[in-house]
Amino acid sequence: MNRREMILKTLQAGTVVALAKPLVMFANDKRNAVLIERTGNALRFPPVFTNGGTMTLASTGINVWPGQTTNVLSINGSFPGPSVVIERGATFTANFVNNFSEEATIHWHGINAPELMDGHPKDAVLPGGNYTYTFPIINRGGTYFYHSHAHMLTAEHVYKGFAGFFIINDPAEISLGLPRGNYDIPLCIQDRRSINIPQFTYNPTMMDGMHGFLGDIPLINGTPDAFLEVSKTLYRFRLLNGSNARIYKIALSDGRPFHIIATDGGLKDEAVQATSLFLAPGERTDILLDFSSYSVGESITLKSLPFTAPGGGTYRQGIEMNLLRFDITGTQSSGGIVPAAMPPINYFNINEIKTTRNFTLTTNMGGTNMHLINGLTFELSRIDWETPQNSLEEWKIVNASNMLHPMHSHSEQFQVYSRNGSTNLAPEDKGWKDTVLINPFETVRLLVKFTEYRGIFLFHCHNLEHEDDGMMLNFKITKPIGITEISTESPEDYKLYQNYPNPFNPETKIKFEIKKEGNVKLKIFNMPGKEQATLVDMKMNSGIYEITFNAGEHNISSGTYFYKLITGEKSLTKRMILTK
Ligand code: C2O
Ligand code: CU
Ligand code: CU
Repeated sequence: MNRREMILKTLQAGTVVALAKPLVMFANDKRNAVLIERTGNALRFPPVFTNGGTMTLASTGINVWPGQTTNVLSINGSFPGPSVVIERGATFTANFVNNFSEEATIHWHGINAPELMDGHPKDAVLPGGNYTYTFPIINRGGTYFYHSHAHMLTAEHVYKGFAGFFIINDPAEISLGLPRGNYDIPLCIQDRRSINIPQFTYNPTMMDGMHGFLGDIPLINGTPDAFLEVSKTLYRFRLLNGSNARIYKIALSDGRPFHIIATDGGLKDEAVQATSLFLAPGERTDILLDFSSYSVGESITLKSLPFTAPGGGTYRQGIEMNLLRFDITGTQSSGGIVPAAMPPINYFNINEIKTTRNFTLTTNMGGTNMHLINGLTFELSRIDWETPQNSLEEWKIVNASNMLHPMHSHSEQFQVYSRNGSTNLAPEDKGWKDTVLINPFETVRLLVKFTEYRGIFLFHCHNLEHEDDGMMLNFKITKPIGITEISTESPEDYKLYQNYPNPFNPETKIKFEIKKEGNVKLKIFNMPGKEQATLVDMKMNSGIYEITFNAGEHNISSGTYFYKLITGEKSLTKRMILTK
């Protein structure tokens, strides 16, 4: 395809009719109005998700390539899925409805959420099922994303379209003066195979299983041959590598420098100038790009530079790609600046390391599972290690294979400490991270501390073919060492039984057991959590009690209610249904 990126034409009758491609006219010089013929497609933006709404997974036909239908795995009919845009401190809620024929979960990549909200494959939502994900946003402001994490199906689901942005805005960052609004642009970079246009055919061969399923053409926010009209001003671009396996070496076609301002877990402590950066699957890097020195009418391309990498074939890693063409068409100012200073990051202190864990990445050519961590292949219900809360750990990852492995940890963000012994890190490594690229035969040391949630989380390679092949381990965050949990009552001191009959109308019995004397309350709440009735509120001796609840006496209408046994600081809750 020999296409000029931009063709200037004098305005002529006939030309307009003859061109099937998008035409943009601008009259910055009224005497010589020109038509620009733009090849390609205007960059698309997924719709913004309404917090509290539904995310429905389904197989849908959409137009990725104009005039052609692609069957994608969409969320609410959109590919990429709708973008979550939420403020730090808010509570995120999404009711996930699985209208697809396979089990699925939504994993909120980079987000610190409770175990049961993390979308671990063990918590799969079956076809036809639904699940409410809800958690407070405690992460730093930044660019995160979500994607399928179904057991051994993640790669195919993501390739077919199941992924979307999750952007956290921190009001405290506004004063930094970074470009905002229309000048703050998320770019999800993915690759697909031109041979299969218009379909996202997922048919990995043995070779693809080895190196990952790579494509030869990029899609930016689901747009092939994408262009974006920009003004001569400073922009923030949030780069997300949503590809299964492709690594990009991001740069501008004219080699101009830009500023790296954020890594996976939000803003860095300084804006660092660079002319290129590596972005591996799962990683995000925010950059500031200044178009002010270009002229209106010029174009510049965001590209992936060629680099050497293991593997070969048509879809090999490291090929050059044009990702997104910027057409400079306007002169408006974003008002944004490259901050001279950004808030500091507290770097972990290596003197406080309590435990060092070693991970060795190996390849087992021709084995059933080819990519291993410490010789292991993922098992859904096996816990591979326990990490106590609040204890600084060093994770030493040795890549003993001739493969690229972007290693990712769930739950909290980590910090890269060194790469091959050097603490002089590239800007894309320095800051808060959840995914780090480990090149062949490299050793990378990470520092990590889990403070917030306990439970089972994942550590895996984010080359999704490697992940589905089992290059993934479960770890369990457990209670802090050396701290006895202060609790005057263990949950076993009390027992709350399911009411019977249930559903009921108007009468039901609620049984509970007290093993130690104390103040006890038994209350009824409606779904939104509003108190409806108090059935018990007194000091009680140990024993088994049964209370009869008559809905009629409390003027309660049909619906779902909760009954709660409240004892000191603890409470036990169960659900009951009052029928009509
Ligand atoms: Cu983005 Cu467990 O993955
Ligand atoms: Cu993740
Ligand atoms: Cu890998």
